[in-house]
Amino acid sequence: MLIAPVRSFRGRFTLPGDKSISHRLAILGAMAEGETRIFGFSTAADCASTLRCLAALAADVRLRDGAVLVAGRGPAALAPPRGVLDAGNSGSTLRMLAGVLAGRPFRCVLDGDDSLRRRPMERVADPLRAMGASVTTTEGRAPLTIEGGPLRGVAWDLPVPSAQVKTAVLLAGLQAEGETTVREPAPSRDHTERLLAAFGVVVAREGGAVSIRGGQRLRAASMTVPGDVSSAAFLIVAALIRPDSEVRIEGVLLNPGRTAFIDVLRRMGAAIDTGIERQEPEPTGWIVARSSALRGTEVPPLAVPALIDELPALAVAGAHASGTFTVSGAAELRNKESDRIATLCEGLARMGADVEERADGFVIEGGPRLKGTVVRSHGDHRIAMALSVAALAAEGATDVADAGCVAVSFPDFYSVLERGSDGG
Ligand code: S3P
Repeated sequence: MLIAPVRSFRGRFTLPGDKSISHRLAILGAMAEGETRIFGFSTAADCASTLRCLAALAADVRLRDGAVLVAGRGPAALAPPRGVLDAGNSGSTLRMLAGVLAGRPFRCVLDGDDSLRRRPMERVADPLRAMGASVTTTEGRAPLTIEGGPLRGVAWDLPVPSAQVKTAVLLAGLQAEGETTVREPAPSRDHTERLLAAFGVVVAREGGAVSIRGGQRLRAASMTVPGDVSSAAFLIVAALIRPDSEVRIEGVLLNPGRTAFIDVLRRMGAAIDTGIERQEPEPTGWIVARSSALRGTEVPPLAVPALIDELPALAVAGAHASGTFTVSGAAELRNKESDRIATLCEGLARMGADVEERADGFVIEGGPRLKGTVVRSHGDHRIAMALSVAALAAEGATDVADAGCVAVSFPDFYSVLERGSDGG
């Protein structure tokens, strides 16, 4: 994808539904009793993977007038799939479904694409085994074979904060005997906790721990999914780094577990306003961002879990800031759709940024204007989008190779980028 620099970036945008929430609503809908109607379901290829896997498990999933309808009949109605369950590029699909399948009395194999096959799976296999499921990984990775059955509740300390693993344990816990508690070293996104409550499940949250009692039934719920705030991050950074720019994003998710990147940008001097219009079940509202003179900052380890997906966009802001932008305690970035520390540093360095790669993060000396060149996405949607936004402010055109992967989370990214771009 060839991207020319733009004079400014402006517009009002409403983005497709949040990816994390869409996955969860579909899965909870399939475990519930009654019809769950999901409006504004994500257009991401990842969420289509979840729907496909649920359908393969005999869940009644339909699309009608743009809504996703899931007619749930409780977890017991899920049936063995005919073949391997293919999660595609989606770690959320594979890990969260592993939690559902741990409680189902049949054997099935979960797999994904080459990128997903490189990602760590023992972190989800371990607690599910402790609860009584048989889970085999392929040297710690996918494919995963799960033979579910009767489960017992567990008290599990996650070694690394992970909302996907927390969700898997809670979904297994719902099917287990007794109580299940998950503790995290730092808080990860809490959509599962909030949405379980919306489906009528009693969830206890205390400090860094979440507990649920097994055997609770889920009541179908309907919801309009707020716009994806992780997609919004790219448009926000585009407006910040170009002169005479302003974006307004409406109906977007403003869950504090997902908006920590806005706090970091504000610390960097960004002019960003937000307004919450609805609190339940997920805070939703608007974001306005305007051109800003940015300065570097430090993103400390404790802040990382709540902005892990936005670090590629933040790095682009860091490259356009004065002074030093530092990220540490983010080794987990190496376990994402690509090794994001390596791929991000490679792309920005190729564009002329002063970047130092570290084992658990990176340091960027902002200032020098980036130059258009050929950069690689490594098949990672967020790397493709980050480098594309960087290209808007570069000198000369940038060719982002293998950019089709943006469809994993934001299929319309390039048309939205074009709509906001003003002049060259
Ligand atoms: C997600 C959790 C995070 C995040 C991913 C989506 C979720 O992954 O990076 O994009 O929806 O729960 P981890 O749970 O592996 O940290």
